[in-house]
Amino acid sequence: MKVKIVADPATGGQSGYDMFAEALENGSSVFGLATGSTPVSTYDQITASDLDFSQCISINLDEYVGLAPTHPQSYHAFMQQHFFDKKPFKKSYVPNGLNPDEHDEAQQYEKLIAANPIDFQILGLGRNGHIGFNEPGTSFDSITHRVALTQSTIDANARFFDNEHEVPRYAYSMGIGTIMKSKQILIEAYGENKAQAVHQMIEGPVTEDVPASVLQRHPNVTVLIDQAAAIQLTGEY
Ligand code: GLP
Repeated sequence: MKVKIVADPATGGQSGYDMFAEALENGSSVFGLATGSTPVSTYDQITASDLDFSQCISINLDEYVGLAPTHPQSYHAFMQQHFFDKKPFKKSYVPNGLNPDEHDEAQQYEKLIAANPIDFQILGLGRNGHIGFNEPGTSFDSITHRVALTQSTIDANARFFDNEHEVPRYAYSMGIGTIMKSKQILIEAYGENKAQAVHQMIEGPVTEDVPASVLQRHPNVTVLIDQAAAIQLTGEY
């Protein structure tokens, strides 16, 4: 894992942009994207740039089950607002939260990714070490699946809803095995509330209790964190 520590999230956004631009320059054409506040600064710089990714495609990690693409808290809507409305890809895919058949949704999404292998995947990090919506305990071999969200994730995401009861209890998410197939991965994490998960991801044992720790096994991962998220690290980076 390459670890890059920056002063603050805005500087991280610049580094994330630089990596996206370099991947594009080097021929990447399928980009895996994440939601959450973390990558927004990177997205802002990408969409404000003159980079040409009009012939590329994007594939998002996850979506809440039960939310229509038009629901303001859906990940479809988030991506429209923070990325695609500003600067579109040729085609963008987000799991269909309204598909009532979880096996069908999983199969379709896996087929899509098999036909369009992800060159460059951007990830955020959950406070409990999750990636995508793969909560602690998820098998490292998992493919796209329906996930029951943990209380910690429901609480963390409740700030976007009127109240905690409106937070969906399930999501569709690429699996950990799916994510690990990406050729290159950038994971960003900012703020002290991510410090423990960052420490466990980089310096802890590789364990399904900390989904992001699997990234230690990937040959091309960059961890981009700010000083606040780095405070529990004991190594030199
Ligand atoms: C959600 C998303 C994750 C994201 C995480 C952290 O659970 N499914 O992909 O990484 O939130 O969100 P934030 O970046 O807002 O801290």
